[in-house]
Amino acid sequence: MTIAACESVARVGFRSSSHRLRRASRLVPCYHKHVDLRGRFITFEGTDGSGKSTQIEKLANALRAQHIKVLLTREPGGTPLGESIRHTLLDSATHNLSPQTELALMFAARSQHLRQIILPTLATGEYVLCDRFTDSSEAYQGGGRELGSEAVLTLHRLLCDNFQPDLTILLDCDLTVSLARAKHRNLITHATAHIDENRFEQEGLAFFGRVHDAFLAIARREPKRVSLIDARDTPAATHAKVLEAVRDRLKIAL
Ligand code: TYD
Repeated sequence: MTIAACESVARVGFRSSSHRLRRASRLVPCYHKHVDLRGRFITFEGTDGSGKSTQIEKLANALRAQHIKVLLTREPGGTPLGESIRHTLLDSATHNLSPQTELALMFAARSQHLRQIILPTLATGEYVLCDRFTDSSEAYQGGGRELGSEAVLTLHRLLCDNFQPDLTILLDCDLTVSLARAKHRNLITHATAHIDENRFEQEGLAFFGRVHDAFLAIARREPKRVSLIDARDTPAATHAKVLEAVRDRLKIAL
């Protein structure tokens, strides 16, 4: 997703936050039992530079062409609070953040995002496409920072009611290629828009190797939810695989 698109999501969330929060505060405490979440929740995951932003936009366009309403959002972020937490988490000027604090901030942003934006939107019947969700915490903080999966899954149960995506698209590609792509893109964003989102990209290959392994372990553990897609092909070829996964798993015509 483009930064402009994300900022517009954040602004929409801000403008309509009192409305959304009123709805959410009525619905959230027992949403599993009382709310018909008619929309579908699709998350995109992968290491930095794996092509998520391109693929999420392409899927959104394909769904919209079928007259399905779609909200694009991202983590960390998606709400005004989440975007300010994002700034702290991703800015390379943020030093000495402990792995535990990093994980707590990811979940503070996520818990708000879920209640303020994701659940109320799903309740209207819209689809929500989210660039990263809890699998990223399991891969980066659980795997990369070596906090382990159990800590992440426990927080997800406690703070997000164990809410699960209907489908997760996990884009898998060559680590060195994707990291080089992410670093290059962030340098350009830094130079042109003065946005510094380089903190994670400064980590070494060993860190990203653990992140990658953790993503693959999630895909093996939850094959029904997670569709592992080889993203080393062209964007168009990868998009075709994403469409096939959405068709097969969500049973919608695309
Ligand atoms: P993102 O903007 O998706 O980066 P990219 O486009 O390069 O893939 O994500 C921002 C960074 O935040 C990314 O390096 C992964 C990290 N992250 C975590 O470490 N834990 C999390 O729970 C989430 C959501 C993101």
